[in-house]
Amino acid sequence: MNQEVIIVRGNHTLKGDVRVSGAKNSALKLMAASILGQGETILHNVPLISDIELMSEVLARLGATVVREGHTLRINTADVDSCETPYELVSKMRASISVLGPLIGRFGEARVAMPGGCQIGARKIDMHLVGLEALGVAFDVDHGVLAATTPNGLRGTHVYLEFPSVGATENMLMAAVTAEGHTAIENAACEPEIEDLANMLNAMGARVAGAGTSLIEIEGVPLSTLHPCEHTTVGDRIEAGTFLAGGALTGGPLTVHGIDPAFLRMAIMKLRAMGCDVETGDDWITVRREEPLSSVDIQTLPHPGFPTDLQAQFMLLAALADDVSVITENVFENRFMFAAELMRMGADVTLDDHHAIVRGVDNLEGAPVSSTDLRAGAALVLAGIVADGETSVHHLEHIDRGYEDYVGKLASLGADIRRVPADSLR
Ligand code: UD1
Repeated sequence: MNQEVIIVRGNHTLKGDVRVSGAKNSALKLMAASILGQGETILHNVPLISDIELMSEVLARLGATVVREGHTLRINTADVDSCETPYELVSKMRASISVLGPLIGRFGEARVAMPGGCQIGARKIDMHLVGLEALGVAFDVDHGVLAATTPNGLRGTHVYLEFPSVGATENMLMAAVTAEGHTAIENAACEPEIEDLANMLNAMGARVAGAGTSLIEIEGVPLSTLHPCEHTTVGDRIEAGTFLAGGALTGGPLTVHGIDPAFLRMAIMKLRAMGCDVETGDDWITVRREEPLSSVDIQTLPHPGFPTDLQAQFMLLAALADDVSVITENVFENRFMFAAELMRMGADVTLDDHHAIVRGVDNLEGAPVSSTDLRAGAALVLAGIVADGETSVHHLEHIDRGYEDYVGKLASLGADIRRVPADSLR
């Protein structure tokens, strides 16, 4: 367990330039897809974060070799000989279940521990199962392990997803590339990371069209025609949005590089509605603000709606805005744990089911706070940068899951921030 704490002194401005890493949510799935390549896949722009280390371990348990050279991963899946992903790994990272689709695509079977609290038929992975069953996969639960088989092989199908689930779309896509015939996924998730995955699958010899829209169509190809490839991970739009929120919070000007502004259209719209100037180029976005922050209503929705992964960062902006903002969380239940920590710093938030009513206050006060999840942790650090006095952010294991060198990047933008051993605080 990580025993470090971030200490940040407030009343600082974030300004300058920062480059985002490759997208965590893309790289994890690209790594899983390498199973279908049966040889050495080379992935560039892979972030140095703990979730990637965990996915490397998942692949290693399956028999792959994973070698890191800086931000490049060489993944050799030629000798993958196990189809089982154990609970100790799935329980640490839910995204481990994204090996389900490619394992089925390659071997026609898989054994993946059920993520904690999930049951067949109940929420959480029900849509993964519905999609895969339509492709001909049979499921059984054996002592907490989801066992998938394909008694009659994989065959193309037409599925209309109940909700555009990112994980379900990806698992289905990765299984369907080797199914016999044509598959259509309607109401598919449209996230840019899915387009990135489809681009990689196509570079491996798959035939996927429409990824990035709500209708994905796949012409199955024989497994033997798939081959490894070299691919560069798309930039992390959530990391970019986090730094932009920091620039908006403190005034900037702050420029993020390495990101397609089209990925963040809705977030940019909300920044402008809050009184920020936002300029964009091919792969950069600059934010600056001279006026007070205006309140704004936000509701999280699947892409291209406002991303749930930026909800906490924008709640922080709303907490310092001039009036009342209503933030509605439509994607995940219970994703307002951040609000309680922010209230400890002086924010005025009332929670009502999946709505948060945020009344802007003049300033926040530094305090000891805990990351409750990855994005909440990142937002609490930003809160510390603008608060009065000193803030200590605990439970950095969440931030380390998804942000490469968060402290270093913020320091380069002007934050007074450091990581220290928790013991040194006593
Ligand atoms: C991915 C992202 C996560 C992001 C989320 C939504 C990764 C590793 N994580 O998560 O950062 O916040 O997309 O943009 O890529 N659901 C079901 N049944 C299912 C599948 C999902 O009920 O079979 C529900 C979930 O409980 C959740 C909602 O649908 O409430 C969205 O989930 P989903 O889009 O699948 O998100 P993830 O792929 O888990």
